[in-house]
Amino acid sequence: MPHILNAEQFDTEQLGQLFSQADYFRDNDLDITDRREVMQSHVGRIMLSEFYEPSTRTRFSFEIAATKLGIGVVSTENGSVTSSAVKGETIEDTMRVFNEYGVDAVVLRTKEDGYAVRAASVSKIAVINGGDGKGEHPTQAVLDMYTIQEQLNQLDGLNVVMGGDLAHGRTVRSLSKLLSLYPDNHISFLSTPELQIGEDIKLHLKKNGTSFEETSDMYGVLSQADVVYWTRLQLERHSGKSLTMGQEHFILDAKALDVMPKDAIIMHPLPRIAEIPVSTDQDPRAKYFRQAGNGLYVRMAMLDRIMKKLD
Ligand code: CP
Repeated sequence: MPHILNAEQFDTEQLGQLFSQADYFRDNDLDITDRREVMQSHVGRIMLSEFYEPSTRTRFSFEIAATKLGIGVVSTENGSVTSSAVKGETIEDTMRVFNEYGVDAVVLRTKEDGYAVRAASVSKIAVINGGDGKGEHPTQAVLDMYTIQEQLNQLDGLNVVMGGDLAHGRTVRSLSKLLSLYPDNHISFLSTPELQIGEDIKLHLKKNGTSFEETSDMYGVLSQADVVYWTRLQLERHSGKSLTMGQEHFILDAKALDVMPKDAIIMHPLPRIAEIPVSTDQDPRAKYFRQAGNGLYVRMAMLDRIMKKLD
């Protein structure tokens, strides 16, 4: 089954193919005649969209991507309340039921790490990890890499600053893995001691020969950045602890923008809370809404690849 479960499953060749296909879908999304033609691509296929945790971008972009490819969509927006998970049904049994329904793929968003892998272990349909707890968000990482390629025309030799709640955010984990596929990237993990990136990611980078540092020197690393990847406090995963990022030091405001190189880009998986003021949106380096938009075309490319493998 052509599952998408984690970032490690991708190589540079696959990423290049996905990026080319995403470009194709963007180019053919402007004209209604082209859109109608693209909509014939996978008529008859069905994608389930099972979200046990809130989402705006991942759910809508996957559902719109499927619709634009002619794939039928059946979705639940709040599976943790409206599905039989509430009654104690396991993800494995849920998948065993989906196996019986003649569908082709399911996008899963879960609060718990590892659910997509558990689902895939019993699944006869393609499982797409739409974010599992503090684990992985592989489709986000692919669209992040696409955005870096689009904006900077390179994926190697980059100074990437990842700032914020790195302990609870899954996007930085998956993105670190994809950056480690390319030579000479350097990652500066910028956070407080309580919110540092996981040991498993550091081990992964070491194994791949990707250099990194952990720091709380925001202005120091921003001044050297090609890519500034900012993240919010993941309060929903703090289990009642009142962890902060020392908010006054982790805000991309005018003072922070001043020290950044003129040709750097600012990314954020969104949603943003207070860590990027709305005033920063006017800065030409701010690419986070473009990044979100790229998610649609990258997810079209992923669904297209999955459905072609099933043909
Ligand atoms: N970036 C992202 O995963 O956003 P959502 O939680 O809105 O899907």
